[in-house]
Amino acid sequence: MIRASLASPELIRMDGVALLSYFATGATPETAYGNMLKEWEIDRSEFIRTVEKMVSSGYLIPINPTERFEALKAAESLLIKSHVRLLNDESRMLSYKTVIEHLVKGRTVLEIGCGTGILSVLAAKAGAKRVIAIEETGIARIAAELFKANGCSAVELVIGNSRDVRIDERVDIILHELIGFDPLSENVLLTISDARKRFLKSDGFLVPHRLKVCCLGIEFSSDATNSCSEEQRIVALSSSCGINLHPIIAAMKQSNIYTHKMLFTTAGYQILSDELTLFDFDLYENAENWQVHKVLPLSIRQSGELNGLVLYFRMFLNDHELTNSPLAAKTSWEQDYRVVPRATIVQKGAAISIEASVETVVGKQRVLVRRVEQ
Ligand SMILES: C[S@@+](CC[C@H](N)C(=O)[O-])C[C@H]1O[C@@H](n2cnc3c(N)ncnc32)[C@H](O)[C@@H]1O
Repeated sequence: MIRASLASPELIRMDGVALLSYFATGATPETAYGNMLKEWEIDRSEFIRTVEKMVSSGYLIPINPTERFEALKAAESLLIKSHVRLLNDESRMLSYKTVIEHLVKGRTVLEIGCGTGILSVLAAKAGAKRVIAIEETGIARIAAELFKANGCSAVELVIGNSRDVRIDERVDIILHELIGFDPLSENVLLTISDARKRFLKSDGFLVPHRLKVCCLGIEFSSDATNSCSEEQRIVALSSSCGINLHPIIAAMKQSNIYTHKMLFTTAGYQILSDELTLFDFDLYENAENWQVHKVLPLSIRQSGELNGLVLYFRMFLNDHELTNSPLAAKTSWEQDYRVVPRATIVQKGAAISIEASVETVVGKQRVLVRRVEQ
């Protein structure tokens, strides 16, 4: 069994944090790999190499099961670390602060997923009539302390998942920040649709109220997609184990689904297309009215080899836009890079058909993007 450690946290990259989280409470590499596979396309040997590297640099520590309690403490610090990253995102904090201060005075506020409690404290300090904060993870303990330390003991903390919670009145404002690297992966659509229906007054406000999922077509440099060496490795495996694996290679070559890019690569890319809005969710709308399956044209503005997409969001808090577009100032959100094994040569001025849908995998929503054959 191995547990995560935050030796030299300032040196760790987000990719590493993603991996560490699978060892946060102590896990065998097999369990961690199995859990990771539910959410990421990840190569087994790459995973093993990375785990070995992280063990040798002290981020992962082999433990025996009796040390589980200690491992839990490491999990807590990992959770805090990920929230500190959010707090240090100036544009995120400033957008929320500005809108909260503009809207909440004399109004009742419900925060879904309060994390450290920072937004609820801002709401209480800006004169909200009542603040209720819901949080489902252990970070709620820190939120309780933050409320006390800031003279906001009146903030009502509810520990649990909002979808299991009931409250005694409808509120004027629902505050939330449930956006992942795949913008939908924190289940913002399901959660806010439920919260709006059960907790919000008919003339109440959602903050944010609108979420766009956008993409750009890109050309990764060849070492980033690594598809050639993947193919070579499978060919090598095929001969070393004496099994004909060519159907797998053929399927790999034919796939036109843009999958999550392997973690742990840093190579660059060129943007080949204009921005395409895959989804534009008005969160006040009933979920049934959201279009969750579309075919759209991606306009090519530079010729090249289209072998990937970068996905990002634009969300709107009143008039404020927050985005993790790769063309905007950096935020705490990474972009969601996708690769396709079979690249397309594209010419400036062409339009490539892209099919986008929202799918749910092991209880989590995500954006599925595929190139439509023409
Ligand atoms: C991205 S963090 C944002 C935390 C805080 N609102 C902030 O802006 O700093 C999202 C938090 O929401 C919590 N969360 C997500 N979905 C939830 C739900 N349905 N009910 C309660 N908490 C939830 C997560 O555990 C996490 O702490």
